[in-house]
Amino acid sequence: MKYDFDELIERRGTDCVKWDERPRVGEHSSGMVPSADVIPLWVADMDFKAAPAILEAVKKRAEHGVFGYNIVPESYYEAVISWFRRRHHWEIQREWILYTTAVVPAMSCVIKALTMPGEKVLILSPAYNCFFSSIRNNGCEVLESVLKRSQLSFEIDFDDFERKCADEKTTLFLLCNPHNPTGRVWTREELQCMYEICHRHGVKIASDEIHCELIMPGYKFVPFGTITDDCVVMNSPSKNFNTAGLQIANIICSHPSWRRRIDRAININEVCDVNPFGIVALQAAYNESEDWIGELNEYLWGNYQTLCDFAAQHLPQWKVCRLEGTYLPWVDISATDMFSQAYADRLLREAKVWVNPGTMYGPQSGEGYIRLNIATQRSRLLEALERIAKYEKRQL
Ligand SMILES: Cc1ncc(COP(=O)(O)O)c(C=O)c1O
Repeated sequence: MKYDFDELIERRGTDCVKWDERPRVGEHSSGMVPSADVIPLWVADMDFKAAPAILEAVKKRAEHGVFGYNIVPESYYEAVISWFRRRHHWEIQREWILYTTAVVPAMSCVIKALTMPGEKVLILSPAYNCFFSSIRNNGCEVLESVLKRSQLSFEIDFDDFERKCADEKTTLFLLCNPHNPTGRVWTREELQCMYEICHRHGVKIASDEIHCELIMPGYKFVPFGTITDDCVVMNSPSKNFNTAGLQIANIICSHPSWRRRIDRAININEVCDVNPFGIVALQAAYNESEDWIGELNEYLWGNYQTLCDFAAQHLPQWKVCRLEGTYLPWVDISATDMFSQAYADRLLREAKVWVNPGTMYGPQSGEGYIRLNIATQRSRLLEALERIAKYEKRQL
């Protein structure tokens, strides 16, 4: 491998959320665990350095020394267009692209622009936690279509999905593709089916594709924009290239009137200014770092196999769901007979490993699961798993 993903990097003391935030045991408890003892497998960023071209671009920009307000140059748009053409055969027009500070603000603007307060926004549940908050913050109601479990994976219940689209108050479907937290990479057939149902019932589609380059062997990411022009896509290099702190994202929308409304929402929400490091990082990522993504995915796949092998040997109560994309395996822990929150609290307190309880992603649909973040050095992942296995042995 050209890049060293095994290199241990000390992130503590850099004011990073993942390692420096003090974990709290239980939602309403005051029990804090010192973060220095904990291995964090929670918030979705990676413990790897960004690709060399990104580091170089950021350093060069920093060396200039002046950090006033920025414009976004044409070369930025060219980088976005070229990436999606090369990687995903998706032809994006320059004027379809609206930039903003991050994907959650993008999502909030899209909801504000395309719905009226009181309307329903359909999601596939369990779902990324900010889907719930963003919909509610915009005065809309969350409507969940719960994914069906199928062995160690998940499927859309299309009858339920259609019933919910047919509800006259449903005006927007907010999709996560690939899906956090179940790890599904939706197939072209599934996306086509979602589109046809939404189209039949006049439901608009907004697709959050932030995890689109984190794809495991044998799976293929299909941008919603290659199914239909009649959708809005939200994207960013941040999750794929580990640049979330640089805060930049794009909303891609071919529909002129929707785009005008989204642009207005970006202005009303005051999220129209981006920082100079995000602008250069995106170009270095899309123009010069494709091979890094290839090796990253190989490494993540190795970590996922390490997790599966370890769980099979030492964690008999865990069922690790199939990971098609993202670095966030979804694990069925129902055999422990514990609620997700209580189990995650126990792992934090007793094993000193910080994972997310499944209920963060759906109070009902996420019960019985935890979500792990395996985007760390393999030795750290193994140490975390060993701590958990030790704790589990003590329980028997
Ligand atoms: C599906 C999804 N969308 C958006 C985000 C956050 O994006 P941003 O940091 O750009 O707001 C995450 C982070 O985990 C995510 O999983």
